[in-house]
Amino acid sequence: MPRLAILTSGGDSPGMNMAIWAATNAAQGRGWEVVGVREGFSGLLRGDFLELDPLQALRQARLGGTFLGTAREPDFGDKIPTALAQLQKSSVTHLLVLGGNGSLAGAAKIAEAGFTVAGIPCTIDNDVDGSDESIGFDSALNLALPLFDGMRDTAEALPRWFVLETLGGNTGFLAQAVAQAGGADLLLVPERPLEFAQVEAATREVLERQRFAIVVASEGYPELMPTLQRLEQALGLRLRYTRLGHAQRGGRPSGRDRLLARSLAEAAVQALAQPQSGLMAWQAGKPQLIPLSNRASHKPLG
Ligand code: F6P
Repeated sequence: MPRLAILTSGGDSPGMNMAIWAATNAAQGRGWEVVGVREGFSGLLRGDFLELDPLQALRQARLGGTFLGTAREPDFGDKIPTALAQLQKSSVTHLLVLGGNGSLAGAAKIAEAGFTVAGIPCTIDNDVDGSDESIGFDSALNLALPLFDGMRDTAEALPRWFVLETLGGNTGFLAQAVAQAGGADLLLVPERPLEFAQVEAATREVLERQRFAIVVASEGYPELMPTLQRLEQALGLRLRYTRLGHAQRGGRPSGRDRLLARSLAEAAVQALAQPQSGLMAWQAGKPQLIPLSNRASHKPLG
C-alpha cells in the first residue's frame, strides 16, 4: 500500500499545519497510509516517524508553527543514503517536503536518487524561485501591518524617526510588502543597497516635509545598524527602532495562507500519485508542478 511521509523543514511558517492536514486528508482519501516525520531532515535521518490521521492534523491546522517540529540540517545533502534507508525501513513510498529554498534543495537530492518526492514552498521570506507566493508570507505580512500602522499613529501624533525591521533572511520580499502595504517613506532591502548619502538625503527630505519618517528595513540589509547609527549622528536625532524578529514567523495562518496551503498540498498529493516528483509552485493563481532545483537559490526582487 502507498505510504506517504510528510516532513516540515527549515524555518517554520504559518500555514504548514494546514498543509499537513490537507495532504493527510487527500492521501487518506486515496487509501494511502500517512506518517509525519518529527523535526525535519534530522528526524528523517533518525527514522523518527509518527502515524498521522486527518482529525488529529485538523486540530492543528489553524495554529502557527508546525506540530511535526522542524530543524536545520545543512549537511543533509551528504546523508542521502541514510535518508533513503530510513524511508525504506519504514515502508515509505512517497515523500512530501514543506519548507524554503534549503529544504527544497534537500528534497531535490532525494528525487535525484530516484525516490518520489514533492516539495511545497513554505517560507515567510517568499523567495522560492518559480513560485509567485509561498505559504506563510501573507500571514507574516498581516502580522507586521498592524504594528506598522501603530507606528504611523504615534508618528503622526508625536513626530519621530522610526525604523521597522522585518525578517526575510537575505531577501527583501517581506520588507517590500510591508512597506508597500503600509506606505513607508523608505525601504531598505539587501537586493538594492543604497549609498549612505542617498539614505541620508531621502530621510532628511521626508522629515522636512512631514516631520516624521517611517523606514522599513529587511534584516539582511548590509551594515544596517552601522548605517542607522551613522544616520542618527548626521541627523542629530535619536532613532526609534523596532525589530519584529522571530515573532513575525509565528501566529495563526491568514485565510489566504490556509487556502494556498490546501490547494498546494492537494495538488502535490495528486502529482505524487502519478507518480511525479517536483515542486508544487503557485503560478498565476494556481498550482503548477515545476522541477525541484537542488540549488538553494532565491528569485529576484520584483
Ligand atoms: O527563512 C525564514 C527565516 O525566518 C528568515 O526570515 C530568518 O532570517 C531565518 O529564518 C531565521 O532563522 P533561525 O530561526 O534559524 O534563526
